[in-house]
Amino acid sequence: MTALPTSAAPVRPPAGLPGSAAAATSAPTPGGQDDTATDVLKRCRELVRPALVEAVGRLHPWTGEMAAYALGWADTAGTPDPGGSEGKGVRQALAVLGAEAAGADGADAVPGAVAVELVHTFSLLHDDIMDADALRRQRPAVWKAYGTGPAVLAGDALFAQAVASLAEAPGPHAAAAVRCLCRTLNTLVSGQAEDLRFEERPWSGPGAVVPEGYRSMAGHKTGALLGGAIALGAVLGGAPDRTVTALERAGRHLGLAFQAVDDILGIWGDPAVTGKPVHADLRRGKKTYPVLAALAGGGRAARELAARLDSTRRIDGETAAQVAALVEEAGGRTATREEARRQLDTARRALRDAPLTHTAAQELDALFTHLLDRTR
Ligand code: IPE
Ligand code: MG
Ligand code: MG
Repeated sequence: MTALPTSAAPVRPPAGLPGSAAAATSAPTPGGQDDTATDVLKRCRELVRPALVEAVGRLHPWTGEMAAYALGWADTAGTPDPGGSEGKGVRQALAVLGAEAAGADGADAVPGAVAVELVHTFSLLHDDIMDADALRRQRPAVWKAYGTGPAVLAGDALFAQAVASLAEAPGPHAAAAVRCLCRTLNTLVSGQAEDLRFEERPWSGPGAVVPEGYRSMAGHKTGALLGGAIALGAVLGGAPDRTVTALERAGRHLGLAFQAVDDILGIWGDPAVTGKPVHADLRRGKKTYPVLAALAGGGRAARELAARLDSTRRIDGETAAQVAALVEEAGGRTATREEARRQLDTARRALRDAPLTHTAAQELDALFTHLLDRTR
């Protein structure tokens, strides 16, 4: 056991942590919106970091060690890991911007930002067990590194600490914020349930998943937390209900765009950049948008794809590569880019529906665009 995050000795972020704002942007376009997004991610990370470190430091040393590993702060020996891969910090930035968009100080959102980062970490930790994904951010997933039982426990610990961090938020809005988080969590769990149940559904014929069913599932499993993150910031900043609702809606549609991009990266992404295995979704029979859109497109490639999927019980690596080629040929990749773009436009319109402060609205917009163009 090692440099563990205990309350007596809170985890100190190692100097020169990886996952810096520059690393988070794999394909930057010079100047303009992308620079704004990169700066926002960095500023919010720095604002939230001390409280996040403090929250992880409150966990039991063992679960804290796994949490530090999952967050990319440490290796499996618990030593600070400069080669570790930190997340992008999107959710914490959304929470901070949610408060600022409502005219409050970004610091008011910090308990919400901590809560959403902990929830995000816990949900990925459990998700990798559910999806049997052995790799996350270029390293063994927590369940592979520590075992499934310990990984479940570490997820539970993060979940509990997320609620605790938020419940202790100073000011008059903590109770409303906890209600908002619980709503988000319930929706996320529903989405994960739909995602898992969809694995067993057929690709075509009666009971097949249609794009609308996919949107419901993705809006729940991914959109809920992105929407919840902005909403939590706004709630903690004392925003009126109408503003909270508009921001939550913007985040939900951002989540749908985000998941569409995630689906693309899961088939055509570079595993060296995404840090996740390629074709894992195809092999598990995940109902991702590119495949559903390809099947819905009709035409020869779509028919060949349907026949291939319907006749294959377990998709191996070679078949997955052939399926990916057919999905592309049938237009699934292009249709998914278009879906992501449509959802992003809807998210932007939702932002315009709310009376937001000018700078935060611009920063949200820049961050939204940045997420669509991501490569990891
Ligand atoms: C994860 O969805 C959603 C949650 C963790 C709630 P996916 O299973 O599609 O995401 P990745 O590809 O493993 O990151
Ligand atoms: Mg997964
Ligand atoms: Mg999953």
